[in-house]
Amino acid sequence: MRINRRDFLKTSLGAATLGTMPGFLSISYAKDGFIEIRAMEAEQKLYLGDVPSSTLWTYNGTAPGPEIRVKQGDRVKVRFVNELKEPTSIHWHGIRIANDMDGVSGLTQDPVQPGEIFEYDFVVPDAGTYWYHAHNKSWNQVGRGLYGPLIVEEPYPTFDPDHDLTLVIDDWRLNQQGQLDERSMGAMMDWSHGGRLGNWLTVNGQSMPDFELTEGEAYRLRLINVCNARILEMDPNRFDAKILAYDGQPLAKPKVLTYQPFLLGSAQRVDLLVIPKAGGDFALEELSGREPFPYATFKVTGSSNSAAPIPVLKPNKIPEPNLDSAKHFKLHMTGGVMGRIDKIIYKGKELEGQDFPRTKQFWAFNTIANLAEDPFFAANRDETIVIEMINDTAFAHAMHVHGHHFQILEREGSVVDEGRPWKDTFLIGPEQTTKIAFVADNPGKWLIHCHMLEHAASGMTTWFTVA
Ligand code: C2O
Ligand code: CU
Repeated sequence: MRINRRDFLKTSLGAATLGTMPGFLSISYAKDGFIEIRAMEAEQKLYLGDVPSSTLWTYNGTAPGPEIRVKQGDRVKVRFVNELKEPTSIHWHGIRIANDMDGVSGLTQDPVQPGEIFEYDFVVPDAGTYWYHAHNKSWNQVGRGLYGPLIVEEPYPTFDPDHDLTLVIDDWRLNQQGQLDERSMGAMMDWSHGGRLGNWLTVNGQSMPDFELTEGEAYRLRLINVCNARILEMDPNRFDAKILAYDGQPLAKPKVLTYQPFLLGSAQRVDLLVIPKAGGDFALEELSGREPFPYATFKVTGSSNSAAPIPVLKPNKIPEPNLDSAKHFKLHMTGGVMGRIDKIIYKGKELEGQDFPRTKQFWAFNTIANLAEDPFFAANRDETIVIEMINDTAFAHAMHVHGHHFQILEREGSVVDEGRPWKDTFLIGPEQTTKIAFVADNPGKWLIHCHMLEHAASGMTTWFTVA
């Protein structure tokens, strides 16, 4: 689905409300040090002008939910109250967390029932840009707004709050009234193709927000792709941005991209370093359509009086894979329309004919759709794991590993990034093979899944254990 304002809502458009700095609700701390997060329905306007609001599922009343900001090494305590009508849980995406706090309904905890409370209590080992989101029927719950940013600050001074901007990017499928199109949620067509794509983008819940930056000063833009399935296409070189971090993990030094477009898949983050020039107004643009579609604009004003040095970020300490003693596994990804017809086993039975639409299972990892009783593999603690992922489908996927960050060792048809940056989610192209490696140092049961949430629900989810 293309995002193009002229293809959409051709009737009267109000002017965008400009000039407001998109902000977040502040976090409420309980007396005992818990942050209170309530999952609740709330009304929010998703399009420009005078359109009716949509009923979203939110954390504390807005999508995105409050920005949780903590310091590296902090203990984070969240009292989560489920005020929705269905069970849910919160996953802390990208945090190398203790397993019982990973928030995966049905694997690491029982879902939190309506009216119930669950207390999350965990330590954040790495500084960087992370996020939290629902992890029960995520295709529906995240698709309706259950997500928020989780920022782990460095323990040393870096960018001050005015120069550190979080941009949570979501795509929504809106109907002709400019409201969330709820009727198409769960559509089989999306599940068997590229996932649910929207026709409108918001940043921090706002349509086409306008940011003001001061010329000559260094900014950190933390981009978080919370779209159910959209791969955002952008070109940071259009505004001379350098890459500071991928998926929260800072690079040893800021990097200039040598290719375009830059692809940011579902759940991925990128931190950009921007030093605006006089007269250098710019926009974040979605480049997948016929022409660039700007969805957030940055006005450059004033001139800086401080010659403050550009803050330097230090990479987090993550154990390096030991490839000599690694255990190797293969993950064969199949299914979807236009893909090879292969057998798919779901809940122990091979699917045929009407089983596919009935169970809505269209994809498989090593012929198995969704969680089998046995894990994909069992690692011993501190063992290096190498997984060769073979994408035997006609679609790109955004593969995510829970509880660990990994390096890409090999990627068919393209060179691997210098310095092998750490990631928690990577994009794999149609018919592409990619090898990743990580040290399985975090005991427990962990998911590996496609973060295109419809794909995850319709088969592309498996799990592994670390003893
Ligand atoms: Cu961002 Cu399994 O999740
Ligand atoms: Cu996928």
